[in-house]
This record gives sequence, C-alpha cells and structure tokens, in this order.
Amino acid sequence: MPRPSTVHVCRECGHASVRWFGQCPDCEAWNSMEERTAAPAVRRGPGSAVRRPRAEAPVAVPLGEVDAVPARRLPTGIGELDRVLGGGLVPGSLVLLGGSPGIGKSTLTAMALGQMAAAGRRTLYVSGEESPAQVRLRAERLGAGALRVPVLAETDVDAVLATIEAERPDVCVVDSVQTLHSAELPGAAGSVAQVREVADRIARLAKGRGVAVVLVGHVTKEGSLAGPRVLEHLVDCVLQFEGERERTYRTLRAHKNRFGSTNDAGVFEMRQDGLVEVLDASARFVEAATRAPGSVVLAGMEGSRPLLVEVQALVSDSEVQPPRRVCSGLDRNRLALVLAVLARHGGVGLGGADVFVNVVGGVRADEPGADLAVALAVASAARNLALGTGEGPPPACFGELGLTGELRPVAHSDRRLAEAARFGLAPVIAPAGSGSGAEAPSLRAALRLALAPVAPARRAA
Ligand code: TYD
Ligand code: MG
Repeated sequence: MPRPSTVHVCRECGHASVRWFGQCPDCEAWNSMEERTAAPAVRRGPGSAVRRPRAEAPVAVPLGEVDAVPARRLPTGIGELDRVLGGGLVPGSLVLLGGSPGIGKSTLTAMALGQMAAAGRRTLYVSGEESPAQVRLRAERLGAGALRVPVLAETDVDAVLATIEAERPDVCVVDSVQTLHSAELPGAAGSVAQVREVADRIARLAKGRGVAVVLVGHVTKEGSLAGPRVLEHLVDCVLQFEGERERTYRTLRAHKNRFGSTNDAGVFEMRQDGLVEVLDASARFVEAATRAPGSVVLAGMEGSRPLLVEVQALVSDSEVQPPRRVCSGLDRNRLALVLAVLARHGGVGLGGADVFVNVVGGVRADEPGADLAVALAVASAARNLALGTGEGPPPACFGELGLTGELRPVAHSDRRLAEAARFGLAPVIAPAGSGSGAEAPSLRAALRLALAPVAPARRAA
C-alpha cells in the first residue's frame, strides 16, 4: 500500500510542491505554502502522476455560449477616475489605490465618496490613520457631499467587517489597508501576513455582499505596495496615483484592471479645494512652455491620450566626479542611454558636464517616444541654442532612439501629430514613416532639423 505523502500547496495560486518554500516559486506570495496530505499515489509505471479519483468530469463550454453580462458600474462622479476604472466601480470588486504618502489618496477617495453620497449611494469611509475629526477637516474643503459620508475610525478588521455587514454600503473605502489588523494572526498591522489576511477577509465579504471596496495602500520607498505584490493578484484593479508631492499635477493609472483597459490615465491638479480634473492638460503645459535653449515640447502619450509636455534640460560644467545625472519624471537608465547615444551618434559629448533633465509639471514621461525630446533638450542646452527658428510656433517632437543612433517609430503617431497640430506646434520632428512634415531617420538628422535652421546671429558662443 502506498503511504499518504505530504505536499505543500500555495493558498494563492495553487502551486503544489513536495518542498516547502517561504515564498511561492510561482506567484511569489510569502508564507502561502500550506502542508496538505495528498491522496496515496498509485504507481502505474515510471513517470506516472498522482491519479485523481474518478469523478463526473465537468464539461467545458465554448466561449460563445457563455452568458456574459456586462458588469454593472457605480460611477464615482469623478470623470478621470471613472475613465481609468473603465466606467466606474464594479459592485463586489476590490480596487487597490496605491501611492506615496501625501500624494492625495485620501483626498481622491473622500471626494469620490462625497459625490456618490450626493448621488444617493450608501457610502462608508473607514479610517485607520486619521481621527474622525481629521477626516472631517479634509472633507470640509471638498464640497457638500463629502460631509454626508459616514466615517468609522477603526483598525480592527473584525469591527470593520461587522460595520460593513450592518451598514451594507454600496461602496466602502478602507484608508489604509496597512493600518488594519486581524486578532487571529500574530504580527503587527502592515506586515505582509496581516495585510493579506485583512484584504482577503474584506474581499470575501465584499464579493458576498456586492460592496465595491477601495483599499488605499501606501507605497514603500522601493515603490512596491505593502510587500512584494501581496495584494495585486487578490484585487480586481490596481490603481497607482503618481506625481511629486511638491508639484501640482498628479496622474492616475491602472496597472491591472479586470473590468477595463490599463491604457488610460487621468490627470489631476491638487488645489486648495481638493483635486481638480485636468481635462486639457496639453493646453496647460504648452502655454507654460518656455522657448529658451534646453526646452522641448514632447508630443507624448499618457495612456491612450495624447499629451503635450515640456521637457527641460540644463547642462553645466561639473565640479564632481563622476558628473551628476539628475532627472525627474524620467527613468534614470533611459536618460543614461539617451546620453550615450547622443555622445556616440549625435556628436554631443557630455563626459565632464552635469546633466539635469526635468519633465515639467510633475508628469512622468516613461515611454520610449520621449527619447528624442530628452536628446533634443540636452543637445539644445549643451549648445545653448533654442529649438526652431525662434519665430512662429514652437516645434514639438517624439521618437525612440535606437542604440545605433536611428530614430524608431512609436505607437500613435497620428494622435501625437493631431495634438501638436491642435496647438499649432510646427514642425513636429518625428521618425520616418510617421506622417510628419519633418521626418528624421536618425538622431543626427533630427538634431540638424531641430538646431540647424538658426540664423548665424542667434548662435551663442
Ligand atoms: P492626502 O489626500 O491626505 O494624501 P494621502 O492620503 O495620499 O497621504 O493629501 C495630500 C496633500 O494634499 C496634503 O498635504 C494636503 C494637500 N491638500 C490640498 O492641497 N488641498 C486639499 O483640498 C486637500 C484635501 C489636501
Ligand atoms: Mg491618507
């Protein structure tokens, strides 16, 4: 008789292994492997697997015959948030809203609840971080509906679940998931096991009762939400609120969305009276753009929307070794790559200079199409030459730099060009084949187009 053997099965993804792992090798969840006794294996020859007991085999259904009812939506009343969510919150679903402290997560959720309360929805705001008085002070700035929202200041998840059960809200915000704890588990609130347990229990109740729940989560210094990916596979939607606290503009992006696309982004501005949707962000950025050397307008994309943003660079002699490479709104490695291509293929060597690059307004330009804007801004700063002729509309640009100095096409060139045309930006320096009047196959050609048509008198030393 074969003896029962022990297997370790991941609670999260079902990965089974004879060995126990602290971290699941499949879904990377921590402490999720549970010991189970497997049915006795029946050996049927070499390589045969554990045999399942014979049961009625379930029948798979062709997808075309599956009833697919579109998910019902609860609009939050905040257009940009609804757009990123894919039309509003879905009852019974869990949304994780991440972002660094002070970015505006509590403000955004309080505003959404206020709007929903004003529209006659049942709402609940669970605050584990602030006292009801603090929550009220914020709500006072956010308009009438915000003061109608019932608040519960509580950190014990059992108490929170009991209140959700009793109040049966349509939508509930838990601010933040890291502050709740379960008495059933050891460890302080915010530990990976606690955060997962808390989210799991809330998820089960939310699904059972059809409550739309938004879990607010702080992002750690390393940029991850409460331990590596612990919640991301448990929730239906992961939203990230980004930007810099000192700047006014913030973007909201979906990193995962079971009920919509992850392509959309919303732009907000933080004001005295809360977050205001920026419906025409391009207009703001173009209006503020300078025409000085080192300034370039990027015809970029924010999700599926075109967005014109100003990229600025400053190049100055360095007094330190190695010289500084500082950027905001950009990936550092991408900047390093652009500088290397500029030096090797553009004839703009910056070995001994400090280079600072900034995407204006606190927006991020994390897309390959931003390469050319960064390169042109740095070259323009290094040569102390403004882009274009200095008269008429300012130029714009987009394109990805290849390692051999070629300019590569990027997605949505038609939308980028249309947006630039809407603001009268010309020429738009773009990769070959993009349909622009100023196409450049290489970085060198783009530099010629951007910096050459300058009258000799304007050439600074
Ligand atoms: P908050 O929403 O509390 O951030 P988070 O919950 O992400 O930590 O608020 C962020 C900052 O925004 C805070 O420093 C104060 C500021 N703020 C405004 O400028 N205007 C407002 O109307 C509100 C409510 C906050
Ligand atoms: Mg907060």
